[in-house]
Amino acid sequence: MSSAEINDFVERVNERTDIYAVVSRYVQLTQKSGRYWGCCPFHSEKTASFSVSADKGLFYCFGCGAGGNAFKFLSLIENISYFDAVKLQAERLGIDLPKRKLSPEEENRFREEKILLKINSIAQDFYHECLIKTARGEVGRKYLAQRGITPETISTFRLGFAPEEWEELLTHLTRQDFTPQQIEAAGLAVKRTTSGYYDKFRSRVMIPISDVRGRVVGFGGRILTAGDENTPKYLNSPETALFNKRKLLFGLDKSNRAITKSGTAIVVEGYMDAISLFSAGVQNVVATLGTAFTPEHANLIVRYAKKVIFCYDSDEAGQNATVRALPIVQAVGAEVFVVQVPDGKDPDEFIRKHGKSAFDELVKNALPLIDYRIKFVIDHADLSSIYGRIRALQDILPVVVPIRNPFVRSEYRKQISARLVLDEDLVREEWQKFVTKRNRERREPERIPTAVKREKLPAEENPLIREACEVILRMAWHESEIIDYVMEAVPMDLLSTEHREIIAWLKACSVAGIHHNEIRAANELKEGTYAQLSRLLIDGTDEPRDTELAIFYDAINFLKRTVLKRKYETLLTQMPQYQAGDSEAYNKTLQEVNEIRQQLYQPVNRN
Ligand code: UTP
Ligand code: MN
Repeated sequence: MSSAEINDFVERVNERTDIYAVVSRYVQLTQKSGRYWGCCPFHSEKTASFSVSADKGLFYCFGCGAGGNAFKFLSLIENISYFDAVKLQAERLGIDLPKRKLSPEEENRFREEKILLKINSIAQDFYHECLIKTARGEVGRKYLAQRGITPETISTFRLGFAPEEWEELLTHLTRQDFTPQQIEAAGLAVKRTTSGYYDKFRSRVMIPISDVRGRVVGFGGRILTAGDENTPKYLNSPETALFNKRKLLFGLDKSNRAITKSGTAIVVEGYMDAISLFSAGVQNVVATLGTAFTPEHANLIVRYAKKVIFCYDSDEAGQNATVRALPIVQAVGAEVFVVQVPDGKDPDEFIRKHGKSAFDELVKNALPLIDYRIKFVIDHADLSSIYGRIRALQDILPVVVPIRNPFVRSEYRKQISARLVLDEDLVREEWQKFVTKRNRERREPERIPTAVKREKLPAEENPLIREACEVILRMAWHESEIIDYVMEAVPMDLLSTEHREIIAWLKACSVAGIHHNEIRAANELKEGTYAQLSRLLIDGTDEPRDTELAIFYDAINFLKRTVLKRKYETLLTQMPQYQAGDSEAYNKTLQEVNEIRQQLYQPVNRN
């Protein structure tokens, strides 16, 4: 889309948008003195200080200062970018996006996806009705009741029951003109070896699995008994065009607002854990779908909160899965914590036994990643032999060596030597060896950073500067500890006013000890600045963290070199006028020029 097309599109959507209609989907509004009032969805409050002015097309909260037009409201409440909010609103109004010509394959894919979504949605209703309304659903109702699942929870998650018969859903769907092949593609039917198809899910409590937008993309089905080798406890949708376990987090469509509001996401292992916590009032929870935690999951979560708390089952498998997940989440710049459920196998059992406040207490005392890792190693080490203790040290080093703050580092060093009963000098020595070894392995072949490669073209300098600034800002956003480093290392003169405003704001948040997030940014930054920030965050690449770090340093070096080069140019233009008379000034300038030249052509130092 060209920018003219985009503007035109936004304008058309805007014209037909009624902010009252938009907001009242989410907030109950009452009319008073020419305005609408309600309780603000962006902060907790009991008296209404959130107001909507329909003629002006604006909302404003007198409590927390959130405000803007309908799109801004949508982007805040749905956690999406401004432009995605426009698109969402367009979708709701039935306005078509200006079409990029789709390839025939894309057209096909979209058409097929639509059909699968429709089938899933019908299946969800079918299972749900079967659970709550039919005699066949009685066993399902009993099962859920005995697990403490209330009718409200059943309705919130639209839980269902798949009847015992072999072709119920198939018949229901084929009557609505879907083919068995399509139902199979949706993962709900299985082909018989002879001929024909049968329902994949039978005699199971059905848990619909939605994507972030709340569209049903698959199901998990639980049997009513304990399960054995021949019948798995949970049967899940197979991978389909819509259902990809590596990318989906169960519950996120319902929990994303609570996650943003609290700045924290709790990750559990099981559907039932998520359902149980959510209905007990711990709403910032998601569950993986019986697979390991992936980088895709991590990227998805940090869009909503920077703090991630793992609360896996307390058995060995759960703890091993936790340890494997930690670096993945850390790599996307999240703060990671771990809750160990002390009593009862999983969070579901715990909260049912001890209640919400006991669970809140566990969360409050969650161990930071490093402490958990150390504890994990020590719990699994053989501390009775010196070899076991040295081995444990080797396992801990990768966790503690990267700690940046030297005081924290030395604190851990002391702690480790005490807990492993090892001499502190020995720990220090091993530590140093580890650092040396790691540095040697890290020395990668000299990369030619794209920014520096294109540096030669003067016409491109400005866009490049902006690009470099964006890289730096992105990093500063995700790694709040580096803000001071950024302010010191980056030549601020090169930054645009907006970028400087963002940096100053991040610094202010860090000084005030508050967690910065997009909602806060949207409220506190100038409109144009926020727009730039959203764009640069959206543009963020999915590069692995260490590449990103290299890019970050390249960007800083690029800016430093730009400053030097500008100075160099200025000095060069001054030289001729000194050459005639002032030989002292000439010599001084010449010396400076030579120094700069040397710096410019020195190999890049990456520390
Ligand atoms: P759990 O056994 O911890 O799940 O497995 P849970 O939710 O606590 O189960 P119950 O109902 O309380 O006994 C964790 C997750 O692993 C996947 C499911 O996604 C489950 O929620 N899983 C488990 C399967 O896919 N298949 C299985 O047979 C078992
Ligand atoms: Mn369980």
